[in-house]
Amino acid sequence: MASPKTLEIVTATVPVLEEHGTAITTVFYKNMFAEHPELLDIFNETNQKLGRQQTALAMTVLAAAKHLDKLATLLPQVTQISHKHRALQILPEHYPIVGKHLIGAIKEVLGEAATDEIIHAWTEAYDEIASVFIQIEQGMYESALWQGFAPFTVTQKTAVATDIAAFTAVPSNEYKDGHTANHQAIDLHKMRLSAGQYITVNTDPKDSNHTALRHYSLYSANTEEGIKFAVRRDNRNAHHGLVSNHLHDHINVGDTILLSAPAGDFVLEQHLMTQNEVPLVLMSAGVGVTPVLAMLEAQIMANPKRPIIWVYACQNKAHHAFADKVEALLAKAETVERHVFYFESGQLLDAAWLANLPKPADIYVCGSMPFMESMIDGLMALDHGVDSVHYEPFGPKMSLGS
Ligand SMILES: Cc1cc2nc3c(=O)[nH]c(=O)nc-3n(C[C@H](O)[C@H](O)[C@H](O)COP(=O)(O)OP(=O)(O)OC[C@H]3O[C@@H](n4cnc5c(N)ncnc54)[C@H](O)[C@@H]3O)c2cc1C
Ligand code: HEM
Repeated sequence: MASPKTLEIVTATVPVLEEHGTAITTVFYKNMFAEHPELLDIFNETNQKLGRQQTALAMTVLAAAKHLDKLATLLPQVTQISHKHRALQILPEHYPIVGKHLIGAIKEVLGEAATDEIIHAWTEAYDEIASVFIQIEQGMYESALWQGFAPFTVTQKTAVATDIAAFTAVPSNEYKDGHTANHQAIDLHKMRLSAGQYITVNTDPKDSNHTALRHYSLYSANTEEGIKFAVRRDNRNAHHGLVSNHLHDHINVGDTILLSAPAGDFVLEQHLMTQNEVPLVLMSAGVGVTPVLAMLEAQIMANPKRPIIWVYACQNKAHHAFADKVEALLAKAETVERHVFYFESGQLLDAAWLANLPKPADIYVCGSMPFMESMIDGLMALDHGVDSVHYEPFGPKMSLGS
């Protein structure tokens, strides 16, 4: 528990540190990577290059510090970040490294204003926040379906839409290339994972000097044939996304990939799956279909009587991912509405359309950031309530609020 003095100093200094957030973040990463270049194998190189998302870590420490006397209230947000950390294999020994360089950056940016008292208080605050993360992550490591990045062999690779490839992979015991074989008994038949979760791929792209980690949602929670995920070739802004292009161009059937165990809390509300009063609304755009497709399958397997509303938007028919699979599943449900929007044909899924949805409803949204922002704002404006609207951005999610 932080001392009253620490609480007082931290609360008084948060605003000035937030003002210097970008400078602190820049110094923090520069110094940390200089001393620990091995961390470049963990952090997203493209984000670092573009200066994108960089502030998430440092700004979250500042945001959490505002709640230092009641960190337990932040558990839902911490848990969500911790899922990502566990998936990326962030370990307790990484925390002092981040702490050292974050406090060092605060000192460097504030200059003479950073008194010993202030630095001491922030060190205490960081340690307290870090210990909450470490504790939650320890529980996640203990319950993970397997440890570390385990080798899997790709058994299927199929185009499911323009620029979207679906992969199936099974545990491999014959991974050579300098990596140890998979001595963990990963039994896909005994595996229980939740629809909506993601796995994390650890790749060695040719265009980079570092390994690169990326999350991909599972499009089925049924692992009998293997772990199933789908990847969109990400070439926005005329720049080639590092990992998605590597997976499309260089990973084929028979190749080995490294995966960490499923993670994430974008999952169906269990208690609503068995009832038929509150309909399930699954809304997605583009490759955002992956986690909600897994949810559709899980719901139909658990209770096909529950009313389902399927809403999907994409560019055109050629970009419509998993169309046949979705239709086959919807055919098994008793009460179904389906709404498909092709942007190129002028069919717009906009905030106004959302008024067509019933209330109450249990709603799951996944797609690009602009799509999600517009859907979530629209649903909130229609009073759907935060507990009924669940979402998974394919990028950083969190905000610890103010
Ligand atoms: C929980 C979660 C689940 C996800 N599930 C899926 C999924 O099921 N399927 C899926 O396809 N993706 C999914 N993603 C996204 C995925 O993790 C990757 O972010 C995505 O594949 C892009 O990675 P990349 O390495 O190809 O691109 P990066 O190299 O990380 O680049 C990201 C973007 O920046 C652009 N870019 C690169 N360099 C520049 C530059 N110099 N200037 C401007 N722009 C540039 C690229 O074109 C690309 O659009 C998920 C993400 C999360 C967080
Ligand atoms: C208390 C300390 C920490 C806080 C508050 C924190 C917070 C965050 C947040 C908010 C995100 C974005 C989550 C999202 O994508 O939704 C994130 C991602 C990430 N964190 Fe942490 N983090 C902490 C410690 C660490 C440590 C010790 C490491 C490892 C050295 C680490 C490595 C990463 C990585 C690699 C990502 C993915 C984003 C990227 O690659 O740029 N974090 N963290």
